[in-house]
Amino acid sequence: MTKALITGITGQDGSYLAEQLLARGYEVHGLIRRSSSFNTGRLADIYRDRHENDVKLFLHHADLAESSRLVRLIYEIQPDEVYHLGAQSHVRVSFDIPEYTMDVTGMGTIRMLEAIRDAQITPRFYQASSSEMFGSAPPPQGENTPFHPRSPYAVAKVMGFWAAVNYRESYGMHASNGILFNHESPRRGETFVTRKITRALVRIQAGLQEKLYLGNLDAKRDWGYAPDFTEAMWMIVQHDEPGDYVIATGEMHSVRDFLNAAGEHLGIDWEKVVEIDPTYYRAAEVDALCGDATKAREELGWEPTVTFDELVKIMVDADVKQLADERPGLNIRAENE
Ligand code: NAP
Ligand code: GDD
Repeated sequence: MTKALITGITGQDGSYLAEQLLARGYEVHGLIRRSSSFNTGRLADIYRDRHENDVKLFLHHADLAESSRLVRLIYEIQPDEVYHLGAQSHVRVSFDIPEYTMDVTGMGTIRMLEAIRDAQITPRFYQASSSEMFGSAPPPQGENTPFHPRSPYAVAKVMGFWAAVNYRESYGMHASNGILFNHESPRRGETFVTRKITRALVRIQAGLQEKLYLGNLDAKRDWGYAPDFTEAMWMIVQHDEPGDYVIATGEMHSVRDFLNAAGEHLGIDWEKVVEIDPTYYRAAEVDALCGDATKAREELGWEPTVTFDELVKIMVDADVKQLADERPGLNIRAENE
């Protein structure tokens, strides 16, 4: 049975990847952080108590800031594949906590790579690199586009990218970078712009919130569907030769386009409820990202399956359902009226 280790398993991508690997018959190990409240909500559907039979998912406390624990865990687990997804992943927050972001998102990758070397094992290694590394380089961005990072987060990701390349070249590791463009889903963190929009518009429609405060509506992104993108991670790791791959839909939309599509699906005029709050502007913005995933299509056979309009509908419908599930009292009253 193939053993995979996932850092960041409690995040959006980690949870989809864990599901996909379990469905393929893997034994999956995940690193989780100690938290004063449950941080495993996204794993609820796949987690089983370890006292049950045939358990294939194992969670271990660790932190990317502590290398000794990483070394010990990797030695004990002896994974065949390591998917390094753990990171302080919020770009705007990285301007507030740059040292922490550099440490966890940048140095965390070095700690993982060194822990693998210390354990004297040779798993395949996936680095969660990001389109943010391209920063101000104009679209379309491909594997040969020079990086120009525009945030502490992006600088840290450039470090992680080159660390993976360097360990491949120096030690012959099967280390690959997935340079993933933005990918979203109903499990997207609530403070990233797509989920912030779908969640807020649904709450406004239900009368629970009056306004939605946003920053730069003109920023453009290449937004795909997260499960398509975690599938690409697995395909990259299965490829005989390690390498670096852009994963993207090749379509670009603005934040305003996302508001239009979500508002239309809900039947809400978003212009009446959205206000601009400069708090959400970035010290340096990334204006336009649109990826060229030709290499992934030709070498891996990867293609996205969900369009922009479908993605918006999936996210809005999921937030409508989540709110309905949260508010059974409201639903009962509505049915009786
Ligand atoms: P996410 O939802 O923010 O998940 C981040 C994960 O990292 C969570 O499991 C989080 O744990 C964990 N983490 C944070 N700090 C940690 C620490 N100090 N030690 C151990 N674990 C820590 O991110 P995502 O959207 O799934 O993205 C996955 C990876 O891909 C990240 O590296 C991200 O930067 C990168 N990426 C994402 C996108 C995208 O559009 N989603 C695009 C390109 C690259 P908690 O749950 O406890 O917070
Ligand atoms: N978060 C947020 N909140 N973004 C806003 C808001 C707001 O209120 N208003 C406008 N935006 C704009 C941001 O300025 C940015 O240009 C765009 O919406 C997208 O912001 P996010 O959803 O926060 O994502 P991101 O593109 O900065 O970063 C995400 O994608 C990267 C890949 O390109 C994250 O998932 C990163 O971890 C990932 O690497």
